[in-house]
Amino acid sequence: MNDVVIDAQRISKLYRLGPGRRHNTLRDLLAEKVSSRVRSRKALSPDEVAPDNSTKRPAGGEQLWALRDVSFQVRHGEVVGLIGSNGAGKSTLLKILSRIVEPTSGHARIRGKLGSLLEVGTGFDPELTGRENVYLNGAILGMKRHEIRRRFDEIVEFSEVERFIDVPVKRYSSGMHMRLAFAVAAHLEPDILAVDEVLAVGDASFQRKCLGKMGNVAQTGRTVLFVSHNMLAMEDLCDRVIWLKNGRIVEDGPASTVVSRYLQESLPPRTERVWDEGQAQPATGEVRLRRACVRPVDGSSGDPITVRTPFVVEVEYRSLRPNLHLSPALALYNEQGTIVFVSEPPFDPEGRGRQDPAGLYRHSCRVPGDLLNDGTYQLGLYVDKDGRTILKQDEALTFNVRDAVETRHGRHGKWVGAVRPRLEWSTELVEVARL
Ligand SMILES: Nc1ncnc2c1ncn2[C@@H]1O[C@H](COP(=O)(O)OP(=O)(O)OP(=O)(O)O)[C@@H](O)[C@H]1O
Ligand SMILES: [Mg+2]
Repeated sequence: MNDVVIDAQRISKLYRLGPGRRHNTLRDLLAEKVSSRVRSRKALSPDEVAPDNSTKRPAGGEQLWALRDVSFQVRHGEVVGLIGSNGAGKSTLLKILSRIVEPTSGHARIRGKLGSLLEVGTGFDPELTGRENVYLNGAILGMKRHEIRRRFDEIVEFSEVERFIDVPVKRYSSGMHMRLAFAVAAHLEPDILAVDEVLAVGDASFQRKCLGKMGNVAQTGRTVLFVSHNMLAMEDLCDRVIWLKNGRIVEDGPASTVVSRYLQESLPPRTERVWDEGQAQPATGEVRLRRACVRPVDGSSGDPITVRTPFVVEVEYRSLRPNLHLSPALALYNEQGTIVFVSEPPFDPEGRGRQDPAGLYRHSCRVPGDLLNDGTYQLGLYVDKDGRTILKQDEALTFNVRDAVETRHGRHGKWVGAVRPRLEWSTELVEVARL
């Protein structure tokens, strides 16, 4: 097809584990590029293993397939996210597409200039100044000097490192380094922009700025490949997401579908927990958590909960001393880690200063149906004394809220929104049009 700009065909990458060499500087990258061009005549770099059809193979050492038979195509203008747990192979894939690392087998065909922002440390020479690195990166992208000069001020302004532009980048903080690297990658007008985890560094405002810039790059019709662990950003920015696991593609499809499946797998449900005595029980000298569960109002833990189902959260704890007045609280988090709500028993003015006997307490909190959207949720549990939290159990329970077919009226796709309340509507015909 004509508009395919990345065509990855059965890419595999085998690494030899042990004290290997990583690419840290532009010099390493260039050395690698040069050595990869003359690979047929020269020995392989120490951390790489020869392609299957090669006769050269470094001896010894444990080997690991960082990528295995990865095939996909990206069309011009697509914004594609790459997700997967640590070590899944995401960065390796971007490095192969950026020609920084050679695949053991398979190949990637790239149409157009690919600008990449990889891990901190790659792409810049630490001995060179910010200014020199901008020109060097532009040159690597195949730009003429006057083209780089034209974009230079914009790059520096975006990066907010004006004061340090003539200082060697080894004196930059990792945040400053990333700011400049992102500005370079995004402003040098590559046809394809490949960005690895830019959100991991930099403060919140710069992260927003980067996301905005990537959105702009995407809107100008350029192709973006984006690696991140931030699922909210993934869903916001990408049309399509590829999920990698142990070097293989698990799923490739619409962002919201793939992200949701990935999160469900990484957060398996845990709808009931009992902390037996003697086990590592969440406890202080005053309170000991005993049990927590989430279940449909008319069912038991493990029964399905849909967007329509009212459910109950139960918390049991032992108050260990007489004359305390303890009270529970819970916080519900959605897949993106946003707090959906926090709840505690309503304030009882008559309970002020009350003293309760020691013993086992069970609290139940009823959550109405038609409130939550479908997705995976986590519950944090807390015990307060005199308005102060004395016991905290984050991620105590994990549960899924499923979609209910009857609410969809034949419509498909993810129902967007942080919550999904069933609200009252009324309709009246105010005036009949005279036609
Ligand atoms: N130069 C190297 N030498 C040896 N092994 C390597 C090298 N680079 C990566 N690996 C291994 O390859 C696997 C994939 O690594 P990669 O960096 O691609 O993962 P990732 O998906 O980017 O993870 P993260 O989310 O932590 O950034 C890992 O097991 C890693 O240890
Ligand atoms: Mg990585």
